[in-house]
Amino acid sequence: MCGIVGIVGNHDSRNYLLNGLKSLEYRGYDSAGIAIMENQEIKNYRVVGRVHLLDSEIPSLINTSLGIGHTRWATHGAPSKRNCHPHKSNDGLFTIVHNGVIENFQEIKNSLREKGYEFYSDTDTEVIANVLEDEYKKTNSVLDAINNALKIIHGSLAIAIIFKNDSENLYFAKRKSPLLIGVGDKTNYLASDALPMIKTCVKFIDILDNQYGIIGEHDIKIYQDGVKQKAKYTTRNAELLNIDLGGYPHYMLKEIEEIPSCISRLIDNYFINGKYCFNEEMIEKLKTAKCVSFIACGTSYHASLIGKHYMESIGKMSNVYIASEWAYFPKFIDEDEIFILVSQSGETADVITCLKKINEFKTHPTITITNTKGSTLERDATYSALLYAGVEIAVASTKAYNAQVSLLYLLKSAIIDDYNASKKLLDNNILLNNIIERKDEIKEIANKVKDAHNAFFLGRGLDYFVAMEGSLKLKEISYIHSEAFPGGELKHGPIALIEENTPVFGFISNKDIALAIRGNFSEVKARKAIVYSFVTKENAISTDTFVMDDFDPDLSILGSVMTSQYLSYYVALLRGNDIDKPRNLAKSVTVE
Ligand code: M6R
Repeated sequence: MCGIVGIVGNHDSRNYLLNGLKSLEYRGYDSAGIAIMENQEIKNYRVVGRVHLLDSEIPSLINTSLGIGHTRWATHGAPSKRNCHPHKSNDGLFTIVHNGVIENFQEIKNSLREKGYEFYSDTDTEVIANVLEDEYKKTNSVLDAINNALKIIHGSLAIAIIFKNDSENLYFAKRKSPLLIGVGDKTNYLASDALPMIKTCVKFIDILDNQYGIIGEHDIKIYQDGVKQKAKYTTRNAELLNIDLGGYPHYMLKEIEEIPSCISRLIDNYFINGKYCFNEEMIEKLKTAKCVSFIACGTSYHASLIGKHYMESIGKMSNVYIASEWAYFPKFIDEDEIFILVSQSGETADVITCLKKINEFKTHPTITITNTKGSTLERDATYSALLYAGVEIAVASTKAYNAQVSLLYLLKSAIIDDYNASKKLLDNNILLNNIIERKDEIKEIANKVKDAHNAFFLGRGLDYFVAMEGSLKLKEISYIHSEAFPGGELKHGPIALIEENTPVFGFISNKDIALAIRGNFSEVKARKAIVYSFVTKENAISTDTFVMDDFDPDLSILGSVMTSQYLSYYVALLRGNDIDKPRNLAKSVTVE
């Protein structure tokens, strides 16, 4: 995780480094730091906490054309001043910021200690700075030192480097963690993704694994294993320009309310003039596949569970795997199996590991479903389908989930040549818009449960998957302990946890399971829990808490999830939490 930025050139460096880091805070926000080269001297400013705290640390006028910055999600060592990036090498030759995890850092640290190096932090990053220094002392070349270091260091890294004796150039290296160079006018930039550079650059260079190089004001040179490489240029994704709050108090609220327009945009992109316009070869592969297996994490995993249901409903065998499990216990079920990797960010390390494993076999096609054009997962899969949901900034994923489910619904329909899907999705938007209109009712429910210590989410069938996502969202941003169960499973153990006034949120969108789940509601009520039921009209009774319009249960679950997104939002708001940046989390989980 962590976000890194770098700049070399005439542009207002202070502004770029600070604002760039602010835009990358979704990657981690435990601490922040900046290093600049000013009058041939490297100055380091570091704070524990959010990027805005750096503002008062850094003089308002700095005279520099070279700087690097970092916002941290702690992996090695607590969020403390000694562990803040940038880190420097013992003799101060190298100052670096790093995103990634060095697997063999302890081993390297021990051997450097034997050579007399000392360490002043608990991070793996400080080890990289000292390996660079050690190698530089042998080779007398920064680029050779980086190349050697890449061979010594195992693990993931995107690093930006300032070398003490070079005030005109920035150095970099990348393996597994994302890194992008922005090409500007008399200034060049570097960052973990395009966001910090989006207002100043239209042209970017994707840095590939094991590449490293040097960036000057006018010139960029990329190498791999000592050999000069051709730059791989990409252009600006205009959607990234729309990242303002637009009058909303929080990105999460804005993003929930963007859901109907995201769904319409998906349809505009994939269903034109009565025809699906997915990659035809991809649809053919899906048509002939016997088995469709999903791999994902977190909210994207929950969306994939719905995808599995869609695939099974058209007669395909289907599985869903948590990426961090599949990576260690890979399973290939069938020769005609296709893998769908679902990831909002397209940079989730666990999912990337799985994709690499599948690619190594060269036997199974892969599809990435992602919101991020140009991301590692998008680039490295056989096929990809973008979500077009616009940048999702709140750490708690909302609109991306609804876009993922809608895209999977469209895919399923394209496989069976069902041309009604887009109309159904657009009609379903009416249900979603009605929920948006009635969000104050959900706020009232939130007010009743905001002080709970434990909460439970119940459902059966698709509603169980809704419950899983609702429960994840609540715990993520409200910090209330919450669990989701299939209604029938309660009496096999979890019901022991029900106490007087425990809130239980139940979902009913399908009449086939309505009676059974109501039985489960009664069981918890009998133990003095308070049930809040979110049901569709045809399944409603007078005591239900929130009644939604009727719709095809395969899609109305989008509404049920939306109610749970609002619920989490309002509970977190009433508890005074930092909604868009909940504790301990990061938006893009780029470490395994
Ligand atoms: O970017 P991805 O969809 O691959 O991210 C997967 C999870 O890290 C993510 O969904 C996480 O669970 C969210 N914070 C949920 O709100």
